[in-house]
Amino acid sequence: MSAQALLEVHDLGKRFASRAGRDSSLWVIRDLSFSVADGEFLTIVGPSGSGKTTLLNMIAQIDVASGGEVRFQSEVAPINDPKSLNPGLSCRIGYVTQEDNLLPWRTMLQNVLFPLVVQGRLNDETRARAEMLIRTVGLAGFENHYPHELSGGMRKRASLIRTLVYDPPVILMDEPFGALDAQTRTVLQEDLLRLWNLGRKTIIFVTHDITEAIALGDRTLVLTRAPARVAGEHKIDLPRPRDIRGILTDPKFIEIYQRIREQVQ
Ligand SMILES: Nc1ncnc2c1ncn2[C@@H]1O[C@H](COP(=O)(O)OP(=O)(O)OP(=O)(O)O)[C@@H](O)[C@H]1O
Ligand SMILES: [Mg+2]
Repeated sequence: MSAQALLEVHDLGKRFASRAGRDSSLWVIRDLSFSVADGEFLTIVGPSGSGKTTLLNMIAQIDVASGGEVRFQSEVAPINDPKSLNPGLSCRIGYVTQEDNLLPWRTMLQNVLFPLVVQGRLNDETRARAEMLIRTVGLAGFENHYPHELSGGMRKRASLIRTLVYDPPVILMDEPFGALDAQTRTVLQEDLLRLWNLGRKTIIFVTHDITEAIALGDRTLVLTRAPARVAGEHKIDLPRPRDIRGILTDPKFIEIYQRIREQVQ
């Protein structure tokens, strides 16, 4: 694995206990290895049920691995020992889950500021950063709206910047735009690339959508069906900044798309 890797996953395995007793067929992930460089935008595609969310949960230390190694900076995640987990690795790993999980009784601004309040880091500087992020994704004017008063796309934006606001060096994203219409999805992809460009965080972005994986990523990993392993790895050497709409007709895009399409089972 490369020397400058920020995150390394080595021979990772995960099995869930079977309701019917011990059953070795319940390995969801097995012998999964890859690494992520500092500042890299890694996208991961794989069939439904292949263990993508399970993988992110282990990287975030929300769930415990059954074997192998997950190393973030120099810290190794515990194996088979849930009590030793350090969820979110002390705010160094942000996690945008598939559902937006906004607190319904707090306004959009209160939701965005919530991690800073919890971490005791709300001050003039962090508040100004939150306001900048709100403007960047076009949510200015909606600060006092409650989540039920926002559209699905607006809730996704709020959820995204709620994670960006406390500036974790690594952000995990689990199909964050999955439930949105194509138009809103494209706008949010553009927002995300603009936000990423501001700070060049390390991002691990899981999606079902090959087009999205190529349009956003520096590199795409394709996972096999469960038990998940890496079926293939594709460098996305399309120039940045990218034009998400125009990219679809780029011959290089089409070539990468076809290569990945053949690998996704
Ligand atoms: N807590 C759990 N207990 C038992 N089995 C689980 C648990 N969590 C996930 N699984 C199983 O592990 C497999 C992988 O689930 P996971 O949610 O990681 O898939 P995924 O790749 O994220 O799928 P999708 O693309 O549909 O979100 C599934 O078969 C699922 O039923
Ligand atoms: Mg999932």
